[in-house]
Amino acid sequence: MSGQVHERSHEPNDDPRPPLVGTQFEAQIGKVAHGGHCVTRHDGRVVFVRHALPGETVRVQITDGRAGDRFLLGDAVEVLDPSEHRVVPACQFAGPGRCGGCDWQHSELTYQRELKAAVVMEQFKRLAGLDVDVDVEALPGDDTGIRWRTRTEFAIDTSGAAGLYRHHSHEIIPVHDCLIATERVIATGVLDRRWPMATTVDVVDASGEPGAVTVPVPSRASTVPHVTERVDTGDWSAEFRLSARAFWQVHPQAAATFVTQVRRELAPQPGERALDLYAGVGLFALALADAVGPTGAVLAIESDARAIADAKGNLRLHPEIELRRDKVNRALKPLVRQRIRTDLVVLDPPRTGAGKSVVKNIAALGPRAIAYFACDPAALARDVAYARDVGYGIRSLRALDAFPMTHHVECIAVLEPLT
Ligand SMILES: C[S@@+](CC[C@H](N)C(=O)[O-])C[C@H]1O[C@@H](n2cnc3c(N)ncnc32)[C@H](O)[C@@H]1O
Repeated sequence: MSGQVHERSHEPNDDPRPPLVGTQFEAQIGKVAHGGHCVTRHDGRVVFVRHALPGETVRVQITDGRAGDRFLLGDAVEVLDPSEHRVVPACQFAGPGRCGGCDWQHSELTYQRELKAAVVMEQFKRLAGLDVDVDVEALPGDDTGIRWRTRTEFAIDTSGAAGLYRHHSHEIIPVHDCLIATERVIATGVLDRRWPMATTVDVVDASGEPGAVTVPVPSRASTVPHVTERVDTGDWSAEFRLSARAFWQVHPQAAATFVTQVRRELAPQPGERALDLYAGVGLFALALADAVGPTGAVLAIESDARAIADAKGNLRLHPEIELRRDKVNRALKPLVRQRIRTDLVVLDPPRTGAGKSVVKNIAALGPRAIAYFACDPAALARDVAYARDVGYGIRSLRALDAFPMTHHVECIAVLEPLT
């Protein structure tokens, strides 16, 4: 099995094999697995168990699977012998059969990071054949792992109340708080009022605004507000204006930390030429442009029309930045054909990763360094393996706890030509 365990579809089907949902058994919990579970075995089969920690003895209840399935999914519904790292979840909505937003509320924060580091190392071993050694670092100032989520999507139930999805379900759980959302998200009153016309409500807490804004969805594009995000790394700062529904790094310290990493690890020099792939509203393009200066050049590629419109505004004072609306895969091909000089590449693809063809084309441009941002270590490990096949290896790898309490982890790999 590669990468993350994907839960099965819950469409009704005519599978004649008996479902095992609800079956209980006692189990000794083994290693952590990608996706917020730990592994155990039952009747010769692998079972991925949520709400457990390695080393514990628990009572498992199967939540998904049938006789004959290669693996089953389950919840630890009773803890018989707890791990020393177990804590009482700070959130009353976390736990078996409850909100699906967090995976590790029942673990000490430092141990969550150890679990995520184990997952990153395992993905690299399994998918790239590489032994890497990483610690998952807290983002600056994040001592508690709560109140960090600046973008939260609440689901709206049939009564118009806002809530969160039950794990593995379309059922909406009413909540009166979400501990990982920022206080300003909750202070909008999103959870206290009714949203009769909406299916979801996005709440966006941008750093350059006096408070968070609510955006009921669906809504006409013209009614979606724009917000300002400020990024300050100490030696570089900028403001970005973007649609409240556009992509922006979710943890309040993420954008500045990532830009610092790009500037430190890539050390862009005046006159150099850089690519910002999957550019969003222009975060890395602007940071690169300020470093390569007017004698350098930055080409930013992004496929989403709304992000491009916002990026145009954010990058308007920089003639050295060219902004191209295209799919990265398609946009790279003519650059390779024309042998466009490329010194540096930043790429920040969606969860699925960049893929073989993009990696191959980046390598064909021959940059001296590549900074790859990944929110899925499995996708990163696969792409690192492709990069090795075309002559690039890892110079450094960092893992950052940009999504505490959840199983997600942000990795930044800097790649350089293999000598
Ligand atoms: C993880 S976000 C990164 C945005 C930006 N680097 C930032 O930090 O704000 C990924 C971006 O890739 C864009 N995207 C997704 N698939 C793409 C593709 N095939 N080609 C170009 N852009 C794509 C999305 O619209 C999104 O803006």
